[in-house]
Amino acid sequence: MLVSAAEMLKKAKAGHYAVGQFNINNLEWTKAILQTAQELNSPVILGVSEGAGKYMCGYKTVVGMVNGMLEEMKITVPVALHLDHGSYEHCYKCLDAGFSSIMFDGSHYPIEENVAKTTELVAAAHAKGVSIEAEVGAIGGEEDGVIGMGECADPDECKKIADLGVDFLAAGIGNIHGKYPANWKGLSFETLDAVQQKTGDMPLVLHGGTGIPADMIRKAISLGVAKINVNTECQLAFTAATREYIEAGKDQQGKGYDPRKVLAPGFEAIKATVKEKMELFGSVGKA
Ligand code: 13P
Repeated sequence: MLVSAAEMLKKAKAGHYAVGQFNINNLEWTKAILQTAQELNSPVILGVSEGAGKYMCGYKTVVGMVNGMLEEMKITVPVALHLDHGSYEHCYKCLDAGFSSIMFDGSHYPIEENVAKTTELVAAAHAKGVSIEAEVGAIGGEEDGVIGMGECADPDECKKIADLGVDFLAAGIGNIHGKYPANWKGLSFETLDAVQQKTGDMPLVLHGGTGIPADMIRKAISLGVAKINVNTECQLAFTAATREYIEAGKDQQGKGYDPRKVLAPGFEAIKATVKEKMELFGSVGKA
């Protein structure tokens, strides 16, 4: 059964480790992540962006697939199904569809509007036992070929949003989605430290987990990060393994064209990436 992410992240923050949110795109992705979490006895959060939700035929399809897998694969570790960077409307769609966690990304609204919408969604989510993440300080990334540097959140705004009753908070600390540019200055631990001092026990979320060096990840966890989002790195690993299979001509040998064979190396590559992250984040054995 899907669970809210509130409890697992409270435990992670208190235990000084982080739970990975791995974004899903299809059945293979989801199966690879769930299998790895079960093998490593680790809690896990499956992230679904609005685009990926649409690609997978809508949120109800995703909920049906994930619930089916939890049962058929006999998954016993805590699993949350989480809307990633949700708009106001899509937060409600996911609450209706049966997600166990949502993120309302109101970072682009003026702070008053972010407060009003977050307040309303906190009540709606909690009425269903669903956890909710909010964001302060936009997280950069590539848009139309231009890489925007991540903003640093204002610690007072973080406190204001944290006090609305959200279960965990994403604060921009110079992190960005996708690959980091060569001139990236690194995470702002000064900002993270200030945010944690204002928000106390609140589990903090680090977006843009792909490509952040291991020592920065460890330091971020020591300063209160309890959830780390990884998306691009699984995509890169999947695609590289698939390319290797095709370039080696394996699809043209015997029944190598069978999609179950074509997708197998990519599946294993996702598993290896998720394992490496869970080990780095310290969530192994914490289910
Ligand atoms: P990456 O794609 O950089 O790993 O970021 C994932 C993320 O933060 C999803 O919200």
